[in-house]
Parts: sequence; C-alpha cells; structure tokens
Amino acid sequence: MFVACTILATIALSQTADEAKPAAPAAPLIGLKDAFAGKFLVGTAGDVPRGYSEAELANVKANYNIITPENCMKPQPTHPSEGTYNFTTPDAMVKWCEDNGIKIWGHTLAWHAQTANWFFQGTNGEPVTRELAMERLSNHIHTVVGRYKGRVYGWDVVNEAINDRGGGETENLRNSNWVKAIGPDYLTLAFKWAHEADPNALLYYNDYNIDQDTNYDRATPQYSGKHTSSMLLLKRLIKDGAPINGVGIQGHWHLYNNIDDVEKAISDYESLGLKISISELDVTATGENSGAFPTRGGGEPITPEAFQKQAEVYAKLFDVFNRHAKSMSRVTFWGISDRRSWRSGQRPLVFDGQLQPKPALKAILDIAAGKSVPTKP
Ligand code: XIL
Repeated sequence: MFVACTILATIALSQTADEAKPAAPAAPLIGLKDAFAGKFLVGTAGDVPRGYSEAELANVKANYNIITPENCMKPQPTHPSEGTYNFTTPDAMVKWCEDNGIKIWGHTLAWHAQTANWFFQGTNGEPVTRELAMERLSNHIHTVVGRYKGRVYGWDVVNEAINDRGGGETENLRNSNWVKAIGPDYLTLAFKWAHEADPNALLYYNDYNIDQDTNYDRATPQYSGKHTSSMLLLKRLIKDGAPINGVGIQGHWHLYNNIDDVEKAISDYESLGLKISISELDVTATGENSGAFPTRGGGEPITPEAFQKQAEVYAKLFDVFNRHAKSMSRVTFWGISDRRSWRSGQRPLVFDGQLQPKPALKAILDIAAGKSVPTKP
C-alpha cells in the first residue's frame, strides 16, 4: 500500500514538474537560401527597401540570396514617355541588395503588359514603323541593361510571348504590340540587344503555364499546347542565334497543378541545353492561379486542410527541383508573405501575413533536409 502510494505520488510529482517546465523555444528555422545552398539560388520579389518594415527586410535577408523587382524595372515605370527614364526606385533597390550581398534578377524588358503606349505610336499618332519600333526597343534595352551592367545577375528579356489558347501546332505567339510592330523576330533581337548591353548577364525567356499543355482552369480545362509551343519557340530562338541561357517557368500554381507536367517540362528544357528557373513561385491555397490577369477567387476563409495540402504541393515541387538541381539555377517566390502577394486573398506563399512560417515552409525545409515527400496514410 505504502509502495503504491509512493509510486503514485512520484508520478504525480513528476507530471506536475513536467507541466511546470516552460515549453522549449522552437529551434529557429534555417533560412531558405541556406537550406538549398549549393543547389540553386532562392529568391523573392519586391521593390525593396522602400515601404518595407524592419521585420520584413530581416525576413528577406534571412531567406533569400536573389531578388526580382516586382514592378519597378518594368518598361512602364522605367520609361513612361519617350526619352524620360525613371530609375529612382530601381537604383535604390540595386543599392540595398548590393549592400546586403543579395543578387538582383532584372524583370522585364519586352512584354505586352505594363509597357507605355508611346512605344507603339508613330510620330503623328499612326502605328509605329518596324524600324522605329526596333530603334525604341533597342534604346530601351541598351539604356536599362547598360545602366546596371555587371550589377544585375540576369534578365527576363522577353516575358509571356505565347498566347493562352493554342493547340501546340505552332509557337502561338501572342499578337502583342511588339509582334504587330516588329514581327516574330522581336524576341531574337531583344536577346541580342540585351547581350550587347551586358555580355555577362544571364538572359532568360520567361512565361506562365509553359510547364503544361492543358490550361490552368479546372472549371473549363482546355488543351492549350502552351508547353509544346514553348519548345517550338525556344528551338527557333536557339537556331536563330539568340544569346539565351535559360527559361523561367513562372510557377503561378494552385492545389491541383499537375506536378508530373512540371517535371516533364524541366526535362524537356534540359534537353535543349537550357538552364531552368522557377521565376515567380506561388501556390494558391484556394481557387485558381496562373500568370494571367486578373486575380480570380480568394477572400473566402481557408481551412487548415487547405494549408496542409498547400504544404504537400510545395514539398512535391521542391522534391522535383532538388532532383533537377544540376539544371535549376534559381527558385524565386513571388513576394515575401501572404500580405505582400499579388494573390494575397488566396494566401499562396510560405510566410503568412504576419511573417509567421506556414506549414508549407516546414514542408520545404524538410525536403531540403533530405526527408521524403509526405504521403497520405
Ligand atoms: C505583377 C505584380 O506582382 C503586381 O504587383 C502588378 O500589379 C502586376 O504584375 N507575371 C509577371 C509579373 O511576369 O510581372 C506579374 O507581376 C505577375 C504575373
């Protein structure tokens, strides 16, 4: 009886002692850039540092070794009218990155969006001639790339040249103002001009949905052939002597993206001798996603299960990137937190609105540490 009481009392005491112990502080998580050191660069997007809090800038420094300006280097803000350039924000960004030992990825030079109309108007309001359009694009590229020569690591030279609804039989170029004014060779020319302006900068073609041949819309999925078209386009650029180093798969994905397609696309680009980056990664926890405007869905409450599923998708993606690390140059998230995301209502990033790690971050770090992709029981 006495023995039994003593044992019970000891258990009770030790339980109380255990409960009284303060919880051990969670080990600080390793920064994303360090988790993948030696494999590929890990980046984020933002027009840092103006408007960013100290906590946000600390998060950037801890996790990323390359930054893409989210908007400030695009043609509209840098070159709003002929002969007028605005480099205040990009200059500040480049300086901040250099001061903090962070590389810069330039985005973007020739694009159908966020580009002022003056590029495409003749001197009397008529459509621009091919010669004048070439002169303007060349001047733009030489001025912007030349300004940051030796300081910007690489450029998205052409963004989103392929149209959404094709069939894969052709390149299916978007009938953009650049195609209308110059023709399909505007891409090769843009790469040549960028190379002239900074021969050491890495030059990439960047686009969304090029990892798949079926469009992103689960409600009305359609064969778009955009991956197949991208292969035709890239083969042509290489054949025509465009100084292209790699391809950026934007990676605006959602919970139901086909990850086998992503891996196949990476293998296909490897077979062309190109490097691959994931240039604008985000995985929406609800609704659809792609590089296409505008934002669709979001704002509704998101369940813990959805965040768990989001973590699984991120884990599967990083497992693919890890296995292809030899040809992967960079994985860049499109923003630092769900509050800073262009898809903020759909909570697509790995830090929440308060910069707290989400399940997705832990899942990615587990993959970096060599754990296998979690599988459902
Ligand atoms: C987005 C920015 O994130 C937004 O802030 C801006 O309003 C619109 O552009 N593909 C691209 C990026 O190449 O430049 C876009 O960035 C997202 C889609």
